Amino acid sequence: MTTPQRLDNASPVIAATSAAERFGVIARPDLTFTPAIARETEHLYERVKQFIPAFEWPVYAPYVHAINRIKKERGAVILAHNYQTPDIFHCVADIVGDSLQLARDATKVDSEIIIQCGVHFMAETSKLLNPEKTVLIPDGKAGCSLSESITGADVRLLKQRYPGVPVVTYVNTSADVKAETDICCTSSNVLAVIESLDSDTVLCIPDEYLAMNVAKQTKKKILTWKGHCEVHERFTAAELLAYKEADPTIEIIGHPECHPDVIAVCDFAGSTSGMINYVKDKRPARVLLVTECSMASNIQAEIKDVDFIKPCNLCPHMKRITLPKILDSLLFMTEEVLVDPAIAGRARLAVERMVNLKQ
Ligand code: 13P
Ligand code: SF4
Repeated sequence: MTTPQRLDNASPVIAATSAAERFGVIARPDLTFTPAIARETEHLYERVKQFIPAFEWPVYAPYVHAINRIKKERGAVILAHNYQTPDIFHCVADIVGDSLQLARDATKVDSEIIIQCGVHFMAETSKLLNPEKTVLIPDGKAGCSLSESITGADVRLLKQRYPGVPVVTYVNTSADVKAETDICCTSSNVLAVIESLDSDTVLCIPDEYLAMNVAKQTKKKILTWKGHCEVHERFTAAELLAYKEADPTIEIIGHPECHPDVIAVCDFAGSTSGMINYVKDKRPARVLLVTECSMASNIQAEIKDVDFIKPCNLCPHMKRITLPKILDSLLFMTEEVLVDPAIAGRARLAVERMVNLKQ
């Protein structure tokens, strides 16, 4: 029923001038690890030394140093999702968070240039909220299985089939899909968004498991779609129960993109930031994070008194973003994220309704 979406077609508008023409390009700096670079990056290495062996830091440090220097020269800001690797999250990002926080913070950013370290739909959301700014993503092919599970044409067909039923679309979708939507949601506000609608039936798409999980918390009838997150759908209740059997004191916290059977055995379920706050507030002695595994490393770097168990499911799309690609973005002003003006206005409205929702 769905047509896989090509990311390179997701932003068909060609800007009058390229970002490189508007801002100029910068020559690649020397990336030798010098004593000066070692000194200037020492405090950053402290944050990530648990994850990057000392003998590898000379490879990372020149990139970290160059990115932080050129970011200032350009007046750019780096937004990074909680699933970015610790070198990005702790050493070069200015703002970190879950999808909702990044969307909200994108509206408050002062800089002319936003570098989005995350997947394409996140960069597109930033562009929708900042149409006058230059939004760059270090790798435009950083997709998302949920985003690619549905197209705008699919949503139009759903609306024909369920006339008058409001459409809530997960922010993990293309602008084309958002344009067909009444309001967007993220995993942290999906219940509030659904409850805000004056209808007993709601289409909550495209994440089937998110919809099934929220359906348990509302009296409304929830209709959905067969989209899944390829990272979270791999977790099973049986594997989590085996951990619990081995150590009954372990606390299991999961992301609502997991199957409801998985969420049923979790002690807590929430967005990536919800999970981080849970660990920060509750300080469980041992915790198992049922989500993308870089996130556990990012919290582990800050919280030393919690023992983290990380079943290591990596998101291959998030992992496309690397320090060398971030540096190239800053040097050559690539890859610029653009949204077709024919859909941008309607897509923006759906995101703005979510961002402005009082909770
Ligand atoms: P959050 O909104 O919880 O950060 O989730 C985004 C995402 O892509 C999870 O897989
Ligand atoms: Fe998409 Fe899943 Fe990756 Fe999140 S973890 S970006 S939902 S594929």
